[in-house]
Amino acid sequence: MTPQANRDAASAPTGDGAMSSGVFPLVVDRVSKSYDVDGKIVPVIGDLSLSLDKGEIVSIVGPSGCGKTTLLNTLCGLIAPDAGRIRWYGRELAGQPQNVGYMLQKDLLLPWRTALGNVMLGLEIRGVAAAEAQDRSRAMLDRLGLHGFADHYPSTLSGGMRQRVALARTLVNEPAVLLFDEPFASLDFQNKLLIEGDTARLVREGGRSLLLITHDIEEAVSLADRVIVLSKRPTGVKAVYDIDLGGDRTDMMAARDSDNFSGYVRQIWADLDVVLQ
Ligand SMILES: Nc1ncnc2c1ncn2[C@@H]1O[C@H](COP(=O)(O)OP(=O)(O)OP(=O)(O)O)[C@@H](O)[C@H]1O
Ligand SMILES: [Mg+2]
Repeated sequence: MTPQANRDAASAPTGDGAMSSGVFPLVVDRVSKSYDVDGKIVPVIGDLSLSLDKGEIVSIVGPSGCGKTTLLNTLCGLIAPDAGRIRWYGRELAGQPQNVGYMLQKDLLLPWRTALGNVMLGLEIRGVAAAEAQDRSRAMLDRLGLHGFADHYPSTLSGGMRQRVALARTLVNEPAVLLFDEPFASLDFQNKLLIEGDTARLVREGGRSLLLITHDIEEAVSLADRVIVLSKRPTGVKAVYDIDLGGDRTDMMAARDSDNFSGYVRQIWADLDVVLQ
């Protein structure tokens, strides 16, 4: 339950992220980023390092507005950092990373396409034959409990179902790494637990890696192998926790019932140092 030394614990043990198990999917090495707001330089990310190993789920929590989305946007090549290096599978980021799936707070489903049509979109763009794209998309909707809803339009689905369709749309492309920016934030507790469990199952079964940004400390702890706590702006790594809950890490209720669970939550809450304003 003791946090590890900050930068070293969050980042790879060697400069290239090479371990005996192979090359890390993602290594962020001393990245910084400022915005120019009307001629005033606002530092947002300051000297931040972290890594994501194969098959690992890492949660990132941090104070509101500290720069989490900015960090995610730099990782996927939408924003260039001012300094530092981002390496995907040992290679310097150039353009957008391959084989990476995203999920954001808004589901961004196309309203004129059915659930099935939305899930198929990525496969269609990649030129997968229509019959195969349809079979794979239907199977993924089934695995996420949406059997019977394939032909529904997004406007006729609940918020929880829509996020499931968005999750299916992301996973059907079989990305090796997933980058999530608070995708479950607007869901009610039951739907959140269910979709977190499905996410854990599908990510772990597939040997994928997940970097999950979340405001929800319980979500962060119950899903992850490691939680990285970020500091206020300019943000950096404040603390890192290896999460040891034992048991089945795809069962979100069991994770919350674990003896260690509330200790991690309390400690991370204290690290966040949230004050009423
Ligand atoms: N394009 C931009 N230009 C100028 N400032 C920006 C820009 N995008 C974000 N910011 C500022 O940078 C800071 C970090 O924003 P960011 O959205 O990355 O934070 P966040 O941690 O994701 O916030 P939240 O917890 O609300 O999701 C904020 O102060 C924000 O106002
Ligand atoms: Mg954000």
